[in-house]
Amino acid sequence: MQLLFILILLILILFSPTLEPQPTFEFQLEAKWQTNQTSEQPSAPQKSSKDPSTHSQSPPSPTPPHAAFKKWYAEALATGVREPHAMTVSTVDEEGFPDARVLILKDLDARGWHFAIKADSPKGRQLAHNPRAALTFYWADMARQIRLRGSAVCLSGGECARDYLERPVESRVSAAASRQSEVLGNGAELEGRLAEMRGAFKGDSSVGVEGWRVYAVDPEVVEFWQGEASRLHKRVRYVRVGGEGEGDWKKEMLWP
Ligand SMILES: Cc1cc2nc3c(=O)[nH]c(=O)nc-3n(C[C@H](O)[C@H](O)[C@H](O)COP(=O)(O)O)c2cc1C
Repeated sequence: MQLLFILILLILILFSPTLEPQPTFEFQLEAKWQTNQTSEQPSAPQKSSKDPSTHSQSPPSPTPPHAAFKKWYAEALATGVREPHAMTVSTVDEEGFPDARVLILKDLDARGWHFAIKADSPKGRQLAHNPRAALTFYWADMARQIRLRGSAVCLSGGECARDYLERPVESRVSAAASRQSEVLGNGAELEGRLAEMRGAFKGDSSVGVEGWRVYAVDPEVVEFWQGEASRLHKRVRYVRVGGEGEGDWKKEMLWP
């Protein structure tokens, strides 16, 4: 029983997304992030309102959508939404099939929404082949969804390396060791590979850096969805009409 408990605890520690580095976009929420992230357990929502009408009066108004996202993100943190930085990232494989998985939002700046991945993972290969992606955030407690899509631009080698090297050594070891999404024969295979990598890290703590990528999704379209109990959901879509980075945007309402 005790062994089972320790095993579950170990799995939780190893796979907890809360151990991912924090997004760095500077809109005064760093402290809040730290509070949320360093606690052993992710903090429970402080004001968990499943009643969408609580938030219904606030369709986003700022332009560009980057600012509107930050506004809603700040509200998500203030409401105690758990892991608001977890997002579904959709890509397209070489045969044209969509593929999707949850990743952590690392940053947001004029270049777009950032995430970090291994280049030789399926999503890394998909992005190298077709550098387009869609991101979806869903904050159930606020009945809010944000979706955006656009080009996925790989950041400079220096920035990718910095992101990798800022991570704790153990996380770099497991990233470097991982043959992500390949079939794992057994636990011993993983242990052996980890031991090999720990040995390699003793000589060079940057092992694996060349296989690390940070992408920024520079959107063409961003939609903010506010659920309404009446089903008359409020939807605002920003469409890029020109410019680079934060650029020029047309804002329109959509039918629910
Ligand atoms: C909450 C959460 C956060 C995650 N964050 C990341 C991440 O930031 N980077 C990453 O490569 N995988 C992350 N993962 C794992 C991915 O969802 C996925 O399983 C893995 O990257 C393999 O994806 P692929 O086979 O499509 O390449 C996360 C999973 C969850 C549930």
